[in-house]
Amino acid sequence: MSRYHPLLVALHWLLAIAILVALFMGTFSLAETPNSDPNKIFGLRGHMSVGISILVLMLIRVITRFASTRPPKVETGNALIDTAGSVAHVGLYVLVFAMCISGLALANLAGLPGIVFGGYGTLPADFSEYGPRAVHGIIAKLLMALVLLHVAGALYHQFIRKDGLIRRMWFGNRKS
Ligand code: HEM
Ligand code: HEM
Repeated sequence: MSRYHPLLVALHWLLAIAILVALFMGTFSLAETPNSDPNKIFGLRGHMSVGISILVLMLIRVITRFASTRPPKVETGNALIDTAGSVAHVGLYVLVFAMCISGLALANLAGLPGIVFGGYGTLPADFSEYGPRAVHGIIAKLLMALVLLHVAGALYHQFIRKDGLIRRMWFGNRKS
């Protein structure tokens, strides 16, 4: 098997975009907008919709990952780098799920489903009094660091090792 399942490939790139959007918008727009700003609800509506979509797509991705055949683990000849690659992949799954769960916990504690989607009630002055808010912010930073490492790893394979690894995460004949 020379490539990942096409559904896993589609989900990898769709989720990569959605996760990067959630990270950027969350950090540079949502967290910077005070809850008293009338536009905050729109930002939250977008962010929560993207976040919940990420959770649903991640669940489909995990099922597809275990139900499909995957290409063999890449070997660079350096056991440390190989292990780091595997740990990073598991870590990406764990951190993305942790973002979704802490986001949902925060939203529920602050009554956001009703306020943001139902149109009743008002936003709390800010979210800092809710424990999951800090967790969500810290995990976001860890996820950013791991995504950077992951992309650096992909570039290392592509341009230094020149082993064409990126093809495994693209569509095409899976047998060759
Ligand atoms: C992978 C999924 C997600 C990512 C990458 C993400 C990312 C972020 C980031 C980067 C921030 C700003 C953190 C900071 O700078 O301290 C944030 C804030 C927030 N997120 Fe998420 N998030 C995700 C899922 C969710 C979900 C599922 C919900 C709720 C349904 C949610 C609700 C919130 C809320 C309420 C805030 C606080 C905004 C504020 O302080 O004004 N997030 N998110
Ligand atoms: C945006 C730039 C990105 C690039 C260039 C990239 C590249 C790749 C490549 C080439 C592979 C295949 C590795 C192999 O053959 O073993 C891969 C796998 C993987 N990527 Fe990415 N990726 C990116 C973003 C992301 C993001 C944002 C996430 C999640 C937060 C992610 C999560 C994963 C995971 C978990 C795997 C392992 C395969 C699996 O089990 O699904 N990637 N990536």
